[in-house]
Amino acid sequence: MRLAILGTGAMARYYAKLFASLNPVMVGRQGGSYVLSQDRDRSIVTPEFLHWTVAHSSLFDLVIVAVKWPAMPLVQSFFKDAGSDLLVISLMNGMGQEEALIPPLSPEQLMVGVTTDAVTLDHDDESGLPAARVTAVGHCLMPLIPHPLVPFWQQQLKDLGLWGSWKFLSAEAVRRERWVKLIQNSIINPLTALANVTNGEITRIPLWTLSRSLLEEARKVSHAIGMALPSDLDFRVSQLCQMTASNKSSMLQDIERRRMTEIDSINGYIIRTARTVSLQAPTHEALTQLIHAMETHFDAS
Ligand SMILES: NC(=O)c1ccc[n+]([C@@H]2O[C@H](COP(=O)([O-])OP(=O)(O)OC[C@H]3O[C@@H](n4cnc5c(N)ncnc54)[C@H](OP(=O)(O)O)[C@@H]3O)[C@@H](O)[C@H]2O)c1
Repeated sequence: MRLAILGTGAMARYYAKLFASLNPVMVGRQGGSYVLSQDRDRSIVTPEFLHWTVAHSSLFDLVIVAVKWPAMPLVQSFFKDAGSDLLVISLMNGMGQEEALIPPLSPEQLMVGVTTDAVTLDHDDESGLPAARVTAVGHCLMPLIPHPLVPFWQQQLKDLGLWGSWKFLSAEAVRRERWVKLIQNSIINPLTALANVTNGEITRIPLWTLSRSLLEEARKVSHAIGMALPSDLDFRVSQLCQMTASNKSSMLQDIERRRMTEIDSINGYIIRTARTVSLQAPTHEALTQLIHAMETHFDAS
């Protein structure tokens, strides 16, 4: 199985190490060795690398998409003449992968899942290399689709001892989990990025009062599209903040690194979905505008 991992960031580094026995090729802007640390283990990993300009989907059987949303035009170009044999897995946050990638991909080729794995970018002082640190090993939920490569992928997961953490559920069940994560991200990400605080600190400052309207607006939208959400979602959001208290959200990390954020695929997706059912999401709109205002000071990188 020829495996490509699109991206060279935190998630891509983690999955390149996890699936090292398949000799994955990383696709991105800059390759090279990096250090992956997990608990007390520390490994130097040097995956094969292809730049976006020379990589092509026809070279691979399976592709894991692990980029941030601003890289989506490059991902679309990578898949533009994809054959129907290709299987694609996306574990990106936010929503809109299907709209962005079908076509050229068919619905049977694209598994959009959700993961609770947590990895942060780092720098290894000992080796002077870029690094990634696994802060939590969670689970990946994937929709079960009728693609001939899926049984091979499942066997691969069993062979690697990952069968317990990669779960295959109905498309509807995964879509629900994606909405839950979307809403959690739509609250925690922009608030922590605006306040420049960790996930734990955000619940203790006045800005957190906006979490109530963010949740209510998102809940009305999901209800209008027939998506039943857990009734204790407010508790789950606060609990997630406590469980990841010392973490900086990925949006705060993007702001610190002066990178464009994923706000348009998170809060922006809720706003766009609200419009399709004649609703409004004014708090999500306000936060999206504020994050965009911060981004206007960044270089276009
Ligand atoms: N990290 C986690 O714990 C975690 C957990 C769950 C889900 N996710 C999701 O997984 C996805 C990847 O996250 P990550 O943490 O790996 O992000 P990351 O460390 O910031 O890496 C992002 C990747 O996207 C590329 N990229 C970003 N903007 C680009 C642009 N404008 N043009 C070209 N390439 C660009 C980066 O390339 P350069 O390095 O060349 O800029 C890098 O390869 C995101 O959707 C994230 O929300 C992450």
